[in-house]
Amino acid sequence: MIIDTPRLLLRPFQPGDAADVFEYLHEPAMNCFACMKLDTLEDAREEMARRAGETEYYFAIVLKETGKVIGEIEGCPEPGDPQNPYPAGDTFRPCWMLNLQYQGCGYAYEAAHAFLDYLFREKNARRIYAYTEEYNVRCQSLCEKLGMRREGLFKEFISFVKNPDGTPLYENTCQYAILKKEWK
Ligand SMILES: CC(C)(COP(=O)(O)OP(=O)(O)OC[C@H]1O[C@@H](n2cnc3c(N)ncnc32)[C@H](O)[C@@H]1OP(=O)(O)O)[C@@H](O)C(=O)NCCC(=O)NCCS
Repeated sequence: MIIDTPRLLLRPFQPGDAADVFEYLHEPAMNCFACMKLDTLEDAREEMARRAGETEYYFAIVLKETGKVIGEIEGCPEPGDPQNPYPAGDTFRPCWMLNLQYQGCGYAYEAAHAFLDYLFREKNARRIYAYTEEYNVRCQSLCEKLGMRREGLFKEFISFVKNPDGTPLYENTCQYAILKKEWK
């Protein structure tokens, strides 16, 4: 699957993307991506091999003008919830990330808008929600530009990294969401 926007292509990852991905995942920008950190270019090559089979829900964000991979966007359908049943496959929680050098140009909005449109129109999405750290104002601004509603703030919701003394560093998390019937 390839999603085409005016300035970008969203396409599955390829082996040749390793160097571009290493550029932004060598030092992940947010704690929530700490587990995705790539220490070496060889790790990046192995990661590209792992991603290569994912063709529907995990995309490289490619700048058409140069062919460079400037970030990534992904979001698989969630399994149904046995406690509070809703059909499996109609709820998605996308994540997005851009190389710092390419932020502030509207590329994240262009990619995320196209991806949400794809999930709503072609992948049967009913509800799409996103989590973001309370201090991640760029991501919150992006969610709001996409028309997502701020649904809540979960205090000390999750820990991705440790404090210097080894205890978990808990973060406050905002939840944003949008329904298919709200998508224009
Ligand atoms: C969150 C993230 C993807 C947002 O990226 P971004 O580039 O700020 O987002 P947008 O695409 O919406 O770009 C908005 C900026 O581009 C500017 N811009 C420039 N040209 C533009 C154009 N042609 N169209 C639209 N906006 C444009 C806007 O004015 C805006 O700038 P401002 O924030 O200074 O007002 C990015 O900060 C990121 O990758 N962060 C690290 C990973 C992360 O936090 N992921 C989410 C985890 S929860």
